[in-house]
Amino acid sequence: MSEGIKDKVVVITGASSGLGEATARRLAAAGAKVVLGARRADRIEALAKELSAAGHTALAVTTDVTDRDQVKNLVNSAVAEFGRIDVMLNNAGLMPLAPLERLKVDEWDQMIDVNLKGVLYGIAAVLPHMQAQKQGHIINVSSVYGHVVDPGAAVYCATKSAIRALSEGLRKEVKPYNIRTTVISPGAVSTELTDHISDADIRNSVKDVVGKFSVGPDTFARAVAFAINEPDDVDINEILFRPIDQPV
Ligand SMILES: NC(=O)c1ccc[n+]([C@@H]2O[C@H](COP(=O)([O-])OP(=O)(O)OC[C@H]3O[C@@H](n4cnc5c(N)ncnc54)[C@H](OP(=O)(O)O)[C@@H]3O)[C@@H](O)[C@H]2O)c1
Repeated sequence: MSEGIKDKVVVITGASSGLGEATARRLAAAGAKVVLGARRADRIEALAKELSAAGHTALAVTTDVTDRDQVKNLVNSAVAEFGRIDVMLNNAGLMPLAPLERLKVDEWDQMIDVNLKGVLYGIAAVLPHMQAQKQGHIINVSSVYGHVVDPGAAVYCATKSAIRALSEGLRKEVKPYNIRTTVISPGAVSTELTDHISDADIRNSVKDVVGKFSVGPDTFARAVAFAINEPDDVDINEILFRPIDQPV
């Protein structure tokens, strides 16, 4: 397998919008074969079609990351189509912020299922392939909220802190298999993430604050491209970035 981005097979969860979509676009343009996973089939199919029409290589596989078999199917589809998997970007996530006292227990479950268990299912799906290849790269998405905790964000922060712990354990365990691991912690990026905050008062105030300083999703895509593009003997383990004006 050549170094760099060109011809690498990259599976991206949460590829239907925001950071995942921007990364699919950037990596496809750099010559990667991108495999797009998300629940909104119309979005990923349209993106795969658009990328293919532009001369790039893309495959859409409808995937709910809370379903272990669907994540396995996403990865196995990539391997069946392209013969290998080089990079797994565990990016799907959601952030329905609310103070604990509002008792949004279903949303707590959802964040644990998508942000944490979804990443575990991604790791479970790719490890056997990458161990057999003796090569691979697993990129997990944490957050500045994996480093700091604010009121109203406790459960989201808990899932994103867990991703950092998980990624560090993974890093140590997969070294013998020549598998690289990266955890990326973005600051505020303008995407659909805040649209899913269920209480309007919180949603509007978060959008107001974040809208003042957030940067575009290609910021994240460039970080992913950097980690992948480094020579095979370099393991970029952590990237943390913030918009210059982000106060927290
Ligand atoms: N934007 C930020 O400021 C920021 C900062 C730090 C970290 N992050 C993290 O970045 C990641 C991407 O978020 P984003 O900002 O790009 O938000 P976004 O625009 O809302 O994108 C979230 C993506 O996750 C997917 N997703 C959600 N639930 C899913 C499920 N059950 N199965 C499969 N896919 C699912 C969505 O696709 P479908 O709805 O089509 O399934 C969508 O593609 C998340 O992990 C988020 O926590 C974002």
